[in-house]
Amino acid sequence: MNRSIRPFALVSFAFLAATAVYASDITKSYDMPDASQIVEKDLIDNPMKFTMPKECKLDDTETIARGKYLFHNLNSKAAKESAPKGLAKPKKDEVKAYGNCVACHNIEGAVGGGTVGPPLVAYSKNMIETKARDAQFVYQKIADPRVDNKETSMTINLTSKMFNEQEVCDLTAYVLQVKTEKK
Ligand code: HEC
Repeated sequence: MNRSIRPFALVSFAFLAATAVYASDITKSYDMPDASQIVEKDLIDNPMKFTMPKECKLDDTETIARGKYLFHNLNSKAAKESAPKGLAKPKKDEVKAYGNCVACHNIEGAVGGGTVGPPLVAYSKNMIETKARDAQFVYQKIADPRVDNKETSMTINLTSKMFNEQEVCDLTAYVLQVKTEKK
């Protein structure tokens, strides 16, 4: 009886040993993607110039309302008011990032406006009427602020695909809006 078991036990042992050796080679047990390819994919493209599209309706009240909403809110989950007309709805279980521009910029009606960026209060009066800036400058600054300032600490919104062209138009319209203190 004993003798007939022995060869079988030997084969089993050899099989187990082989399995153990194979399993201990961890490089074979999962994919090891090339990290440099992942980093490459996540990097934002080089600074890009954008021309403000003709379809940007800077005086349109719905456009300005969307810009205001994007400016003052962090994301679709944290927003208290509901999104204004024409703003893309986040997909189910997705949190859409908004501008949170107020974290760095003060502007009329800002709650806790930040000071990392220059205040955008009375922008139209101070910067547009004086011709220090124009709409194209503001559009480009929001789309990709690196074009005129390589060292900028401002967020990159269009090159990074964080926003689409319409959303950059919305924000431009809001910054350019002639504001009274209450708005
Ligand atoms: C992390 C901080 C930060 C955030 C967030 C930020 N900005 Fe800025 N912004 C800056 C800084 C710093 C500057 C000045 C340096 C520069 O021009 O690049 C600036 C400059 C600007 C200017 C140009 C002002 C001028 O005439 O010189 C505009 C317009 C502007 N930001 C709009 C926005 C809008 C709209 C948003 C939201 C989408 C936003 N910023 C988000 C930091 C920020």
